[in-house]
This record gives sequence, structure tokens and C-alpha cells, in this order.
Amino acid sequence: MAVLLNEEILKAIDDNGQIDTYEYAISTGRDHQIVVGAVKSIQSMGNLVTCEQRSFNTWSLTDEGKEVLEHGSHEAVVYASVDPTAGTLLVDIMERGDNAKLGFSKAMSNGWVMLDKNAEGGARVFRKVDSIIDEVKEKLRNVAKGSGRISEDELKEYKRRKLITNIITKSYIVSKGDNFSTSVEKLDTDLTPDMIANDSWKDCTFKEYNFDAMGIPPVCGHLHPLMKVRAQYRQIFLEMGFIEMPTNNFIESSFWNFDALFQPQQHPARDAHDTFFLKDPEKSFEFPQQYLEKVKTVHQYGGFGSEGYKYEWKLEEAQKNILRTHTTAVSARMLYKLGQQKFTPAKYFSIDRVFRNETLDATHLAEFHQIEGVVADYDLTLGHLIGILYAFFKKLGMEKLRFKPAYNPYTEPSMEVFSYHEGLKKWVEVGNSGVFRPEMLLPMGLPENVSVIAWGLSVERPTMIMYGVDNIRELVGHKINLERVYTNPICRLDN
Ligand code: PHE
Repeated sequence: MAVLLNEEILKAIDDNGQIDTYEYAISTGRDHQIVVGAVKSIQSMGNLVTCEQRSFNTWSLTDEGKEVLEHGSHEAVVYASVDPTAGTLLVDIMERGDNAKLGFSKAMSNGWVMLDKNAEGGARVFRKVDSIIDEVKEKLRNVAKGSGRISEDELKEYKRRKLITNIITKSYIVSKGDNFSTSVEKLDTDLTPDMIANDSWKDCTFKEYNFDAMGIPPVCGHLHPLMKVRAQYRQIFLEMGFIEMPTNNFIESSFWNFDALFQPQQHPARDAHDTFFLKDPEKSFEFPQQYLEKVKTVHQYGGFGSEGYKYEWKLEEAQKNILRTHTTAVSARMLYKLGQQKFTPAKYFSIDRVFRNETLDATHLAEFHQIEGVVADYDLTLGHLIGILYAFFKKLGMEKLRFKPAYNPYTEPSMEVFSYHEGLKKWVEVGNSGVFRPEMLLPMGLPENVSVIAWGLSVERPTMIMYGVDNIRELVGHKINLERVYTNPICRLDN
């Protein structure tokens, strides 16, 4: 197609000595830009043609002009709105929009309609002729096409009516160059090893580089916005020396999700309002026995300086399978593992999906992604937690933080983290954090002088803020706009 147009243009130059791209475009019914594009590609083939630019004034339709082209001139619209037999009340015509007044006076001066001021029910407009020719529309059609006869007076008149406007158009006068030919030689674009080996490159004509050409977008997979944000968080944790925890189990036992975290069995979060329980398999049976006993004891009777919850701890409750409600279940498994070895300080993180049986609304679904960071070391304090939160959130571009005392069954003290959002101009909650309780850590076998600080946040919230999505359903589910997924920029959290 492109080659065909190139040859056609060369032929026209051969026939006429030269062409003007603008006139050529009009006479062949082509878009001027396409003709110019073809000429540029001919130019890139060597000295086939020479080009000289010229600029001149042309007319183009204003928005109002385009409206006239589509629906007819204002006067024609008024004429059409007049009932051919009964006429139409003037007030009704005037109600038909901003251009009705102008259209009416033009229709009157054209002699298309007449006004009976004393008609019954008020001034009434009647048609004066049986049919009209909407010359304005026809002339504008010619302007739009860049052709046809239109007088200077008419141009002036339409310009005054703001239907057309003057624009400067650039076109090229293309004539024969030194190497003119009407057939387009296919130029070589690649220098191959063969060409070098057999010397054929000497006879090749290579296409010139076009450094201004836009690249072709590569065909590739696209990360969902949530996954783009996840990649960025993962990067930040890795930069900070954290190791990723294995999160590949959506199904978890209540034991690891709740009991190991010193969350009492009658805690409201466990009942059916917040947790999805599994029917099949309903229960888990494999637990580290000794550890399980210690967990039971600390719930029931206390220990390690704690009084415990003083209730009867039930194995069946701990066995119940659920969809994990937080990734802290993963952290619990990892910390237990850590407690079983000779202790060395550790920094862990996870980013994965969790599930809660919540009422769905614009910002909540029954599943979302959590980000969690965990640091285990000797004698860590709340000060360390605050310090690392500053370091972590700074990497996300959040430097102003505030902390608010909070409650989690497994951390003491616990803090909600707020950050000042420069875009939203307010403090927004960005996470939850705390120092894990000894009642959780000591049964795992971690040394007494080791503390573990941790924090968690969701992926959805920063993603929604970042990509300006205010309904979670535009981010997850069948209403997601795939085009947006493709074209969304990569996530730079510190930007
Ligand atoms: N598990 C908490 C939540 O689901 C987050 C958290 C993680 C809090 C670690 C404290 C420490 O909101």
C-alpha cells in the first residue's frame, strides 16, 4: 500500500514535472499528511526527488462550522423546525438553543420564513417557500474538502460568522532529483554477515536511519497495576536486605493464622463475619506437637511472665481450615522455624493475597494483598520499629509519618502508621505495626532477649491512590479496563 502510493506519486511527478503535495492530496482524495509521509519516505531513498516547502493560508471549519456541516446551517435548522402547514410559535423556535435567534433572522432575510405577529396564541412563524437549498452547508463542505468554488465575500462572511478559521498549511513542491526513477527500489535495511563475507554490501543501497521514527510498541505481557506496585515494594524490601517468605498457601489452619499469634479462640475476628472457613478439607491435623502444647499452655494458663487468657483452649478450634486472613500467618510459620535453629538475626518480607469475609463496597473486596515486613534481632525496641518505618516509607516517598497507639492481639505495643499525603493534602492511614508479644515468640523457641518488630499494609490502597482509581472494581474483576492495564505507566512509588 505504502509502496503503491510512493510509485503513484513518482509517476505523477514524471507526468507533470512536479507536484504540490496539498493539491495532489485534494485531487486524489487523500489525507495530506499521508501524502507528505509518502514523500518523506521517497526522500529517504536517496536522491529520487527534491522538495521545497511552501506555506499558504487555507480555511478550516471551526467546531461550529463542523456542526453546521453535520446538521445544516442555523437558518436551515430553523426552517426545518417550522411546521409546513400550521406554522410554529416563535417562542418554541427560540427555545431550540443558542443559535435559534441568528438562524431565525437569517431565515427571514433569505425569505424562507415569515412572521405573523398577531396570530392566535402569540407570534407564529410560517414557511414562505416550499423548499430551500442550504448553500452555507454546501459551501462549508467545499471548505472542508479544500476544494470547490467559494468567493472571497463568502469566505469573509463565514469567517465573520465564526464558521471557518484561517490556518497556515505547509505543503511540499516535489520535483525530480538526480536519481529520479518511477520505480521504487527496495532499500536494504540490515547489514548481514553474508553481505560482508561476499562483498555484496558494496553494491547495496542502504536505507538511511530515521532517528525520529517512533518505535513499535513491543508485543509483550502486561503486569496488572497491583502487580506493578508489588514489584516495586518487593524491590524496596530487597534493597533493604529483606528475604521473601514463602506465601504460596492461601489455605491456612486457624492454628497458624490465630493461635500461634496469641489470638484467643473466642476473638471476634475468628467468627464467620471475618473469616472464610473451609468445608473440605475442614481441618488440619499436622502440627509441631511440642510447640502446639506450648501455645495451648500460654493461652490457657499463661507463662513467660504472662497470665494468659485463662480459658479452655480447644484443639478442634485450632484445626479449622480457613482462607488466611493476614500474611502474619506466614510470618508466624517463619518465626517458628527461626526459633528452632540457633538464632541469627533475620529480616523477612511477604506480599500476597489474604481473604476476609467483609461487606463489599467501593474500596473493599473479600480479598486483597498484604505487604508485611518482619525484623528479628536482639534487643529491638519500639525505637527500632519507628526507625525502620521511617526508612521504609521514605523509599515510598513518604517522609512525614505519625504513629497512633493501636491494638493487635499479637503485638504490644502496636501502632497505626499515618502519612501526610501531599496530593490528597491530608493524613492517611498507611499501615499497622508493632512489637510481637513474648507470649507469641517464646513458645516458638526464640531466645528471650530477641524481639521481633513488624509492620503490614495493603497493596490495594497505595495502588488506588497512585493510579487514581476510586472504585476497587475498576482494579479487580470483570469491570477492569484492559486498555488501562496495558498503558498504565510503571509504578514509581517515590515519585
Ligand atoms: N496483620 C496485621 C493486619 O492484618 C498487620 C500487622 C502485621 C500488624 C505485623 C502488626 C505487625 O492488619
